Amino acid sequence: MYPLCQTHRQVAKSKQSKKSKKKNKNLPVKENSEENAVIHRKITCLLKAARDLNILKSPDITAEEWFENNYEAQKAAKEALNLSNDISIIPEYYYNNNSSSTVLNCGTEKYVLPAESRFHLCDISSIITLKDKKYDLIVLDPPWENKSVRRRKKVYGTLCCESLTDLPIEDLCNPGCLIVMWVTNNTNQLNFIKEKVFPKWKIFNPVMWHWVKITHGGLLIHPIEWHHKKPYENLLLGYVSSSTENADSLSEKKIEPNKVIVSVPSSIHSHKPPLVEVLKPYIPQHPLCLELFARYLLPGWTSLGNEVLKLQNIKMFEKNKLTLIPKVKFG
Ligand SMILES: C[S@@+](CC[C@H](N)C(=O)[O-])C[C@H]1O[C@@H](n2cnc3c(N)ncnc32)[C@H](O)[C@@H]1O
Repeated sequence: MYPLCQTHRQVAKSKQSKKSKKKNKNLPVKENSEENAVIHRKITCLLKAARDLNILKSPDITAEEWFENNYEAQKAAKEALNLSNDISIIPEYYYNNNSSSTVLNCGTEKYVLPAESRFHLCDISSIITLKDKKYDLIVLDPPWENKSVRRRKKVYGTLCCESLTDLPIEDLCNPGCLIVMWVTNNTNQLNFIKEKVFPKWKIFNPVMWHWVKITHGGLLIHPIEWHHKKPYENLLLGYVSSSTENADSLSEKKIEPNKVIVSVPSSIHSHKPPLVEVLKPYIPQHPLCLELFARYLLPGWTSLGNEVLKLQNIKMFEKNKLTLIPKVKFG
Protein backbone atom coordinates (compact mmCIF):
# COMPACT_ATOMS: atom_id res chain seq x y z
CA MET A 1 0.00 0.00 0.00
CA TYR A 2 2.87 2.39 0.71
CA PRO A 3 5.47 1.69 -1.98
CA LEU A 4 7.78 4.41 -0.63
CA CYS A 5 8.74 2.11 2.19
CA GLN A 6 9.50 -1.09 0.37
CA THR A 7 13.25 -1.04 0.85
CA HIS A 8 12.78 -0.35 4.53
CA ARG A 9 10.46 -3.29 4.85
CA GLN A 10 13.16 -5.44 3.28
CA VAL A 11 15.77 -3.99 5.61
CA ALA A 12 13.47 -4.45 8.59
CA LYS A 13 12.85 -8.05 7.51
CA SER A 14 16.54 -8.98 7.37
CA LYS A 15 17.12 -7.21 10.70
CA GLN A 16 14.16 -8.99 12.21
CA SER A 17 15.35 -12.48 11.29
CA LYS A 18 18.31 -11.95 13.63
CA LYS A 19 16.10 -11.09 16.55
CA SER A 20 14.60 -13.40 19.10
CA LYS A 21 11.07 -14.78 18.95
CA LYS A 22 10.29 -12.75 22.03
CA LYS A 23 11.04 -9.58 20.11
CA ASN A 24 8.87 -10.73 17.20
CA LYS A 25 5.93 -10.56 19.55
CA ASN A 26 6.51 -6.83 19.76
CA LEU A 27 6.15 -6.15 16.05
CA PRO A 28 4.67 -2.72 15.39
CA VAL A 29 0.94 -2.41 15.28
CA LYS A 30 -0.26 -1.25 11.88
CA GLU A 31 -2.24 1.92 11.78
CA ASN A 32 -4.05 3.62 8.93
CA SER A 33 -5.24 6.93 10.30
CA GLU A 34 -6.49 9.88 8.34
CA GLU A 35 -3.33 11.74 9.36
CA ASN A 36 -1.19 9.01 7.77
CA ALA A 37 -3.23 9.24 4.56
CA VAL A 38 -2.82 13.03 4.32
CA ILE A 39 0.90 12.83 5.01
CA HIS A 40 1.31 10.00 2.53
CA ARG A 41 -0.50 11.91 -0.21
CA LYS A 42 1.58 15.05 0.35
CA ILE A 43 4.91 13.26 0.67
CA THR A 44 4.27 11.33 -2.55
CA CYS A 45 3.77 14.62 -4.44
CA LEU A 46 6.85 16.21 -2.84
CA LEU A 47 9.07 13.23 -3.61
CA LYS A 48 7.81 13.03 -7.18
CA ALA A 49 8.74 16.70 -7.64
CA ALA A 50 12.17 16.04 -6.08
CA ARG A 51 12.74 13.07 -8.41
CA ASP A 52 11.66 15.13 -11.44
CA LEU A 53 14.24 17.74 -10.40
CA ASN A 54 16.89 15.03 -9.96
CA ILE A 55 17.68 16.04 -6.40
CA LEU A 56 17.35 12.58 -4.86
CA LYS A 57 19.92 9.81 -4.99
CA SER A 58 18.93 6.41 -6.31
CA PRO A 59 16.85 4.54 -3.68
CA ASP A 60 18.22 1.21 -4.94
CA ILE A 61 20.67 0.56 -2.12
CA THR A 62 21.31 -2.78 -0.52
CA ALA A 63 20.48 -3.42 3.13
CA GLU A 64 24.23 -3.66 3.75
CA GLU A 65 24.89 -0.22 2.23
CA TRP A 66 22.02 1.18 4.27
CA PHE A 67 23.39 -0.16 7.56
CA GLU A 68 26.95 0.91 6.71
CA ASN A 69 25.87 4.45 5.96
CA ASN A 70 23.82 4.56 9.13
CA TYR A 71 26.74 3.23 11.18
CA GLU A 72 29.07 5.98 9.91
CA ALA A 73 26.47 8.64 10.59
CA GLN A 74 25.87 7.39 14.13
CA LYS A 75 29.61 7.30 14.82
CA ALA A 76 29.94 10.93 13.69
CA ALA A 77 26.94 11.94 15.83
CA LYS A 78 28.44 10.23 18.89
CA GLU A 79 31.73 12.05 18.38
CA ALA A 80 29.88 15.36 18.08
CA LEU A 81 27.91 14.83 21.30
CA ASN A 82 31.00 13.69 23.21
CA LEU A 83 32.87 16.92 22.54
CA SER A 84 33.89 18.63 25.77
CA ASN A 85 31.19 21.01 26.87
CA ASP A 86 32.30 22.33 30.27
CA ILE A 87 29.50 24.81 30.87
CA SER A 88 31.12 26.20 34.02
CA ILE A 89 33.50 28.26 31.86
CA ILE A 90 30.94 29.42 29.30
CA PRO A 91 29.32 32.83 29.99
CA GLU A 92 25.67 32.70 30.95
CA TYR A 93 24.85 35.38 28.40
CA TYR A 94 26.58 36.53 25.20
CA TYR A 95 25.66 38.70 22.24
CA ASN A 96 27.63 38.64 19.02
CA ASN A 97 26.74 42.11 17.76
CA ASN A 98 28.88 41.69 14.61
CA SER A 99 27.22 41.32 11.25
CA SER A 100 29.33 38.22 10.63
CA SER A 101 29.97 35.11 12.68
CA THR A 102 32.65 35.11 15.35
CA VAL A 103 34.39 32.61 17.62
CA LEU A 104 34.04 32.53 21.41
CA ASN A 105 37.00 31.02 23.30
CA CYS A 106 36.08 29.15 26.47
CA GLY A 107 39.06 27.36 28.02
CA THR A 108 40.28 24.81 25.49
CA GLU A 109 37.05 24.92 23.48
CA LYS A 110 35.90 27.36 20.81
CA TYR A 111 32.31 28.00 19.82
CA VAL A 112 30.98 29.50 16.59
CA LEU A 113 28.57 32.38 17.17
CA PRO A 114 26.52 33.33 14.08
CA ALA A 115 26.01 36.99 13.14
CA GLU A 116 23.91 38.94 15.64
CA SER A 117 23.04 35.84 17.63
CA ARG A 118 22.66 35.88 21.40
CA PHE A 119 22.48 33.05 23.86
CA HIS A 120 21.38 32.47 27.44
CA LEU A 121 22.95 29.37 28.91
CA CYS A 122 20.52 28.66 31.73
CA ASP A 123 17.62 26.68 33.05
CA ILE A 124 14.17 27.50 31.65
CA SER A 125 13.22 28.79 35.11
CA SER A 126 15.48 31.80 34.32
CA ILE A 127 13.31 32.70 31.31
CA ILE A 128 12.51 35.92 33.15
CA THR A 129 15.94 37.23 32.04
CA LEU A 130 14.39 37.66 28.57
CA LYS A 131 11.59 39.92 29.74
CA ASP A 132 13.08 43.17 28.34
CA LYS A 133 12.50 42.03 24.76
CA LYS A 134 9.40 41.02 22.84
CA TYR A 135 9.47 38.49 20.03
CA ASP A 136 7.55 37.85 16.80
CA LEU A 137 8.38 34.15 16.67
CA ILE A 138 9.07 31.72 19.52
CA VAL A 139 10.13 28.14 18.75
CA LEU A 140 10.17 25.58 21.57
CA ASP A 141 11.55 22.06 21.47
CA PRO A 142 10.84 20.85 25.01
CA PRO A 143 12.75 17.90 26.45
CA TRP A 144 9.80 15.51 26.47
CA GLU A 145 10.19 12.32 28.38
CA ASN A 146 9.91 9.45 25.91
CA LYS A 147 11.27 5.94 25.32
CA SER A 148 14.11 7.17 23.18
CA VAL A 149 15.40 9.61 25.85
CA ARG A 150 15.00 6.92 28.55
CA ARG A 151 16.83 4.32 26.43
CA ARG A 152 19.75 6.69 25.96
CA LYS A 153 20.08 6.93 29.75
CA LYS A 154 18.98 10.51 29.92
CA VAL A 155 20.83 12.27 27.11
CA TYR A 156 19.38 15.35 28.75
CA GLY A 157 17.01 16.15 31.61
CA THR A 158 13.31 15.98 30.75
CA LEU A 159 10.28 18.12 31.65
CA CYS A 160 6.66 17.20 32.20
CA CYS A 161 3.85 18.87 30.19
CA GLU A 162 2.49 20.59 33.29
CA SER A 163 5.66 22.59 33.90
CA LEU A 164 5.22 24.30 30.52
CA THR A 165 1.89 25.79 31.55
CA ASP A 166 3.62 28.24 33.87
CA LEU A 167 6.09 29.63 31.34
CA PRO A 168 5.33 33.38 30.99
CA ILE A 169 5.20 33.19 27.20
CA GLU A 170 2.70 36.05 26.83
CA ASP A 171 5.15 38.46 28.48
CA LEU A 172 7.67 37.76 25.71
CA CYS A 173 5.34 38.30 22.77
CA ASN A 174 4.88 41.15 20.30
CA PRO A 175 1.26 41.37 19.08
CA GLY A 176 0.54 38.49 16.72
CA CYS A 177 3.55 36.48 17.88
CA LEU A 178 3.74 33.03 16.28
CA ILE A 179 4.48 30.11 18.64
CA VAL A 180 5.87 26.90 17.18
CA MET A 181 6.27 23.86 19.42
CA TRP A 182 7.79 20.50 18.54
CA VAL A 183 5.53 17.78 19.98
CA THR A 184 5.76 14.00 20.04
CA ASN A 185 3.26 11.48 18.66
CA ASN A 186 1.89 10.86 22.18
CA THR A 187 -1.85 11.66 22.03
CA ASN A 188 -2.24 12.46 25.76
CA GLN A 189 0.65 14.88 25.62
CA LEU A 190 -0.68 16.49 22.46
CA ASN A 191 -4.14 16.94 23.95
CA PHE A 192 -2.68 18.46 27.10
CA ILE A 193 -0.73 21.02 25.06
CA LYS A 194 -3.79 21.86 22.93
CA GLU A 195 -6.28 22.00 25.79
CA LYS A 196 -4.23 23.37 28.69
CA VAL A 197 -0.88 24.86 27.72
CA PHE A 198 -1.77 26.73 24.52
CA PRO A 199 -5.04 28.25 25.87
CA LYS A 200 -3.08 29.46 28.95
CA TRP A 201 -0.73 31.22 26.51
CA LYS A 202 -3.78 32.56 24.60
CA ILE A 203 -3.30 30.34 21.56
CA PHE A 204 -6.73 29.10 20.60
CA ASN A 205 -6.65 27.55 17.13
CA PRO A 206 -3.34 25.75 16.68
CA VAL A 207 -2.60 23.78 13.55
CA MET A 208 -0.33 20.80 13.16
CA TRP A 209 2.54 20.43 10.70
CA HIS A 210 4.62 17.32 10.08
CA TRP A 211 8.34 16.85 9.54
CA VAL A 212 8.76 13.69 7.48
CA LYS A 213 12.14 11.98 7.61
CA ILE A 214 13.50 10.36 4.47
CA THR A 215 16.72 8.79 3.23
CA HIS A 216 18.87 10.47 0.57
CA GLY A 217 17.10 8.18 -1.90
CA GLY A 218 13.66 9.49 -0.91
CA LEU A 219 12.43 6.51 1.16
CA LEU A 220 10.61 7.04 4.45
CA ILE A 221 12.86 6.05 7.37
CA HIS A 222 10.07 3.82 8.79
CA PRO A 223 6.84 2.61 7.19
CA ILE A 224 4.19 5.24 7.78
CA GLU A 225 1.65 2.76 9.16
CA TRP A 226 3.87 1.69 12.07
CA HIS A 227 2.16 2.72 15.26
CA HIS A 228 5.01 3.04 17.75
CA LYS A 229 7.68 4.46 15.47
CA LYS A 230 6.54 7.06 13.01
CA PRO A 231 8.70 8.39 10.17
CA TYR A 232 7.59 11.88 11.12
CA GLU A 233 7.48 14.32 14.01
CA ASN A 234 4.90 17.00 14.59
CA LEU A 235 4.84 20.72 15.20
CA LEU A 236 2.00 22.71 16.72
CA LEU A 237 1.71 26.29 15.49
CA GLY A 238 -0.52 29.14 16.55
CA TYR A 239 -0.62 32.88 17.07
CA VAL A 240 -0.82 34.32 20.55
CA SER A 241 -4.11 36.17 20.50
CA SER A 242 -3.88 39.84 21.41
CA SER A 243 -7.63 40.12 21.93
CA THR A 244 -9.37 38.94 25.08
CA GLU A 245 -11.77 36.93 22.94
CA ASN A 246 -10.93 33.53 21.50
CA ALA A 247 -11.21 35.06 18.04
CA ASP A 248 -8.28 35.40 15.63
CA SER A 249 -6.67 38.81 15.66
CA LEU A 250 -6.40 40.79 12.41
CA SER A 251 -2.59 40.58 12.37
CA GLU A 252 -2.74 36.79 12.26
CA LYS A 253 -2.20 35.13 8.90
CA LYS A 254 -3.95 31.91 8.09
CA ILE A 255 -1.63 28.96 8.71
CA GLU A 256 -2.19 26.03 6.36
CA PRO A 257 -2.92 22.90 8.46
CA ASN A 258 -1.05 19.62 7.87
CA LYS A 259 1.82 21.18 5.96
CA VAL A 260 4.56 18.63 5.33
CA ILE A 261 8.26 19.44 5.60
CA VAL A 262 10.64 16.78 4.36
CA SER A 263 14.34 16.23 4.96
CA VAL A 264 17.03 13.66 5.67
CA PRO A 265 17.24 13.58 9.51
CA SER A 266 20.37 14.27 11.47
CA SER A 267 21.92 11.32 13.33
CA ILE A 268 22.20 13.54 16.38
CA HIS A 269 19.45 12.47 18.74
CA SER A 270 16.44 14.81 18.71
CA HIS A 271 18.09 17.31 16.35
CA LYS A 272 15.45 19.27 14.43
CA PRO A 273 15.78 21.05 11.09
CA PRO A 274 15.86 24.87 11.10
CA LEU A 275 12.46 26.36 10.30
CA VAL A 276 13.43 29.90 9.26
CA GLU A 277 12.64 29.54 5.56
CA VAL A 278 9.33 27.67 5.91
CA LEU A 279 8.06 30.12 8.52
CA LYS A 280 8.83 33.29 6.52
CA PRO A 281 5.29 33.68 5.06
CA TYR A 282 3.79 33.68 8.58
CA ILE A 283 5.98 36.24 10.38
CA PRO A 284 6.97 39.91 9.84
CA GLN A 285 9.75 40.76 7.40
CA HIS A 286 12.32 41.58 10.10
CA PRO A 287 11.18 39.37 12.97
CA LEU A 288 12.67 39.06 16.42
CA CYS A 289 13.02 35.32 16.96
CA LEU A 290 13.57 33.25 20.09
CA GLU A 291 14.26 29.55 20.53
CA LEU A 292 13.68 27.91 23.93
CA PHE A 293 15.41 24.63 24.86
CA ALA A 294 17.89 25.36 22.06
CA ARG A 295 21.07 23.38 21.38
CA TYR A 296 22.32 25.54 18.53
CA LEU A 297 22.36 29.21 17.52
CA LEU A 298 20.95 30.91 14.45
CA PRO A 299 21.90 34.27 12.87
CA GLY A 300 19.87 37.09 14.44
CA TRP A 301 18.10 34.77 16.91
CA THR A 302 18.12 34.62 20.71
CA SER A 303 18.55 31.07 22.04
CA LEU A 304 18.01 29.80 25.57
CA GLY A 305 18.69 26.38 27.04
CA ASN A 306 20.91 24.50 29.43
CA GLU A 307 22.90 23.09 26.46
CA VAL A 308 22.62 26.10 24.22
CA LEU A 309 26.13 25.78 22.68
CA LYS A 310 26.06 21.98 22.40
CA LEU A 311 26.14 21.98 18.59
CA GLN A 312 28.24 25.15 18.15
CA ASN A 313 31.67 23.65 18.97
CA ILE A 314 34.05 24.75 16.22
CA LYS A 315 35.28 21.16 15.82
CA MET A 316 31.95 20.34 14.25
CA PHE A 317 32.48 23.15 11.75
CA GLU A 318 36.23 22.99 11.10
CA LYS A 319 36.21 19.37 10.10
CA ASN A 320 33.55 20.02 7.56
CA LYS A 321 34.22 23.44 6.08
CA LEU A 322 31.72 25.36 8.18
CA THR A 323 28.70 23.17 7.66
CA LEU A 324 27.38 20.89 10.36
CA ILE A 325 28.91 17.42 10.08
CA PRO A 326 28.11 16.11 6.56
CA LYS A 327 27.17 12.63 7.74
CA VAL A 328 24.60 13.98 10.11
CA LYS A 329 23.45 17.01 8.15
CA PHE A 330 19.87 17.63 7.03
CA GLY A 331 19.47 16.78 3.36
C1 LIG B 1 14.75 18.17 22.58
S1 LIG B 1 16.24 18.88 23.06
C2 LIG B 1 16.40 20.24 21.94
C3 LIG B 1 16.98 19.80 20.63
C4 LIG B 1 17.26 20.96 19.70
N1 LIG B 1 16.05 21.61 19.29
C5 LIG B 1 18.00 20.46 18.47
O1 LIG B 1 17.45 20.54 17.37
O2 LIG B 1 19.14 20.00 18.59
C6 LIG B 1 15.82 19.66 24.55
C7 LIG B 1 16.91 20.48 25.19
O3 LIG B 1 16.38 21.11 26.37
C8 LIG B 1 17.37 21.06 27.38
N2 LIG B 1 16.71 21.14 28.70
C9 LIG B 1 16.23 20.13 29.47
N3 LIG B 1 15.71 20.61 30.61
C10 LIG B 1 15.90 21.94 30.58
C11 LIG B 1 15.59 22.99 31.48
N4 LIG B 1 14.99 22.74 32.65
N5 LIG B 1 15.93 24.26 31.14
C12 LIG B 1 16.55 24.51 29.97
N6 LIG B 1 16.86 23.56 29.06
C13 LIG B 1 16.54 22.30 29.35
C14 LIG B 1 18.05 19.73 27.16
O4 LIG B 1 19.31 19.70 27.80
C15 LIG B 1 18.14 19.69 25.64
O5 LIG B 1 19.29 20.35 25.21
